[in-house]
Formats: sequence, C-alpha cells, structure tokens
Amino acid sequence: MGNLKVDIIPCLSDNYSYIVSDGNQALVIDPSESKPIINFLEKNNLELKFVLNTHHHFDHVGGNLELKNKYNILIAGNANDKERIPGIDILLNENEKFNFNMNSIEIINVPGHTSECIAFYIKNENIIFTGDSIFSLGCGRLFEGSPQQMWNSICKIKRLPNNTKIYCGHEYTMSNAKFIQSINNNTQIKLKINEIEDLRAKDIPTIPTTVGDEKELNIFFQADQDNIKSLLSKDFLTDEEAFKIIRSAKDVF
Ligand SMILES: [Fe+2]
Repeated sequence: MGNLKVDIIPCLSDNYSYIVSDGNQALVIDPSESKPIINFLEKNNLELKFVLNTHHHFDHVGGNLELKNKYNILIAGNANDKERIPGIDILLNENEKFNFNMNSIEIINVPGHTSECIAFYIKNENIIFTGDSIFSLGCGRLFEGSPQQMWNSICKIKRLPNNTKIYCGHEYTMSNAKFIQSINNNTQIKLKINEIEDLRAKDIPTIPTTVGDEKELNIFFQADQDNIKSLLSKDFLTDEEAFKIIRSAKDVF
C-alpha cells in the first residue's frame, strides 16, 4: 500500500491531468495537452507506459496522439468509446482490472456526463480518478446521460470507503461551493469556502477530496436526504427527482 505516487499536472485553463508513478514507470490519466506532461516526465526521469482516458472530451484526450508519437505507450479507454478516443489500443470494460506493474486498477462505469464515462479505482491505494463525473463539491454536466444515470454513478462512488481520495478532472471547487451555499447556507460550507480561498490564493489545487468529505458537503451526493429535498420542494421527491432539480439549478447558476 502506498507504492504509487500521484502528481497533479494543471493543464489548459482549469483541467487536471494526473501522473501516477511506480518507481520510474508512469501512466498519465487524461492528458489534456502533451507539453506539461512531457515536461514533468523529463524533469523527473519517468518512463511513460500508458495513457488512461476517463472519457472522450478534447480536454481529456488532447495530448494522446502527441504522447503516442513521442513515447512507446499504449492508450486505454472504455471499449464502447473506441471510435471517440484518439489512438486507443486497450479496450476496457466495467469491472475489468487494468494492471500497471503490480497495481490493479478497477474500471467503474460512471455514465452521465457522457454515456461512456469511466472511473479508475485503485483499491489498494484508496484512490479513484473520476474525470468529469464527480468533482469536488459537484458533478459533471449531463451532456449525454440522464439524471437517473448520473445519480446511479454518484451512488457507486458513495459506496466506496470514506477515506478514498477522489482526483477529478477540473478545478471547479469554488464555483461548486458557492452553488451549494446558494441552496444550503450553513457554517460548514462557509468554512469550506474560506479553506478553498486560502488554497487558491496560493495556487494550490483543492484536489484530492475524499468520499467522506463529499458525503458531508456535496449537495449532489445528498439528493437522497430529506433535509435537502425539503429545501428544493414542498412536494415529495424521489432521489432522482431531487438530483435532477439540483443539476438543473447548477446548469444556470
Ligand atoms: Fe468532459
């Protein structure tokens, strides 16, 4: 446990790519662009072996082909997304394990943001990479999936151990926190906003978050709670209906 090192590589304007290394071998998750990845690899003498993609959006696969041209690597992504992920070599399916040296990476389907979004779960290290499905204090926009699908995806993440670290695709934490505050203004979220402000003032990522912290604060995780439902409507809401209301409100926030 704890053999892998995760480095956060800020890309484009607010994306995060992640370099996961085991000794001097590395894989990169969602290389938005190649340059910052190449710089990091060279500076740290790492040998890139794989690219893993959570979904096909350009700001997650933008570096795929340049990295493939430069290094002897394989690109892995959802088998169902093989037409949309540039340079894909390894086709992954739900519940399959992808092996990186001695480390087993589990594939979890988390549709909603796109129909074929996947997350990479490394159980031994208590780490999950969620792409644009789950953000710190938020979740992705529903470009291809239904509210029901996204709620189910969130429930899969909620079932992981509380100490699981979540590494997501963007630095959207502050705007998500302000959205939560607009619906459920409490001390906890105020304190969180102060914490985010301090980190961002120093240009430090607010990532990773944890499953436990998201359950405490992320309103999208709380769509099944009566106190949240009562803030949204006087009528009885199913969990999916409550989730849909929250997601629609965030779309126009
Ligand atoms: Fe995306």
